[in-house]
Amino acid sequence: MNETRIAESVVAWYERCGRKDLPWQTDVSPYRVWVSEIMLQQTRVATVVPYFERFMHCFPTLGSLASASEDEVLRHWSGLGYYARARNLRKAARAVCEGHDGHFPERIELVQALPGIGRSTAGAILSLALGQRHAILDGNVKRVLARCFAVAGWPGRQAVAARLWDHAERQTPHARVAAYNQAMMDLGATLCTARNPACTECPLQDVCQACARNAQQDYPGRRPRREMPIRSTRMLIIRNTRGEVLLQRRPPTGIWGGLWSLPECPTAVDIHQWCREQFGVEARELENRAPRRHTFSHFHLDIQPVEVSTEGEASRLADQDQQIWCDRDAVVARGFAAPVARLIAECCEPRDRRDQ
Ligand code: ADE
Ligand code: SF4
Repeated sequence: MNETRIAESVVAWYERCGRKDLPWQTDVSPYRVWVSEIMLQQTRVATVVPYFERFMHCFPTLGSLASASEDEVLRHWSGLGYYARARNLRKAARAVCEGHDGHFPERIELVQALPGIGRSTAGAILSLALGQRHAILDGNVKRVLARCFAVAGWPGRQAVAARLWDHAERQTPHARVAAYNQAMMDLGATLCTARNPACTECPLQDVCQACARNAQQDYPGRRPRREMPIRSTRMLIIRNTRGEVLLQRRPPTGIWGGLWSLPECPTAVDIHQWCREQFGVEARELENRAPRRHTFSHFHLDIQPVEVSTEGEASRLADQDQQIWCDRDAVVARGFAAPVARLIAECCEPRDRRDQ
C-alpha cells in the first residue's frame, strides 16, 4: 500500500467510524479548535466536552479570553488539571491581540511561537480549522505510526521522534487533510490503544508491521531506565576446617542495615592480608564463584563471591555480636538479604554433599 492508499483507507474508516459531531467540530474556527486541542492534551474527549462548552460560553471569542483575568480562566479550567495549559492559553490570547490584531495567525511558524503550542498542536489547529496541510504527531499518533512502520526506540529520544515525524509528513495527504488528521488521532485513541489494540478493526491492518509480527507491545519503545551507578564488592565465603562459615553483621545504617551478611572485602585490597587483619585468619586457597549483579532502586551492586579456605579450626573473633563462625544449619536459620541467602545456599549445599 502506498501513501495515498494508506491515507484513503484511514479517511474511509473515519467516514464510517470517526467522531464528527464534537462541539469543536461545529462552528469550526482556529480559536475553537485551538482551545479544544489544548484541553485534549492529556485529557480524554468525554471529559473535555462539558469543559469546552462552558469555556466557550464564558469566553466566546479570542478577545474575551484575552481580557479575562487569570483567576477567571483558571476557574473554568478547574478540574481539568495541568493548569499551565490554561495560563498559557490566556497568555497566548493576549499575544495574539497585541501582535496579530486579535486575528489568530495562519502561518505555522507564528502559531508555534505562541505559548503552549508545539509543532503537533500547531499542525492540528491549522489543518483541522483551515485545511492546511500539516503533519501532526501527538501521543496517540506516535503509537499508531511507531507500530505501523515498526519504529523502534523511545519517542522521547530526538532521533526516534525525527523518524516518526518523517513518517507523519510522508503519510499526510494533500486532500482531506483535516479528516485524515482527525482520523489518525481517533484511531490512536479508540483502536490502536496502548494495551489492547483492536487490529482486526483497523484500516491499517494490512500494512501494519507490528501487527504482522504480532509485536504491537514492542512499539513505541519505552523510556529507558535511568542509568544507574554500579558499585562492586567481593563477598567472602570464609570457611574454617570444621566447615563453619564466617558471618559479619552489617553496619546499622545503609543497605541491609543490621542484617547478618558475608564479609565484604574491598576490591582493591589483598584478601590474605584483609582476612588476617579483620579476623585473624590465615587464608589458604581462594576460589572465585560466578559473579552476579543485585539491583537496588538506585544502583547496581556487582558481587564477586570468593570462597576462602582457612588454616586452623577457628580464630579469635573479637566481637561475637558482630562476627561469628556459624555452622551450616545455623547459617540457614538466620535471616539474610535475598542475594546473600542465595549465595550461601549455593556455596554450602554442594560442599556439604561433597563431604558426605
Ligand atoms: N487529542 C488531541 N487532539 C484531539 C482531537 N482533535 N480529537 C481527538 N483526540 C485528540
Ligand atoms: Fe495499531 Fe493494530 Fe492498527 Fe497496527 S493494525 S495500527 S497495531 S490497531
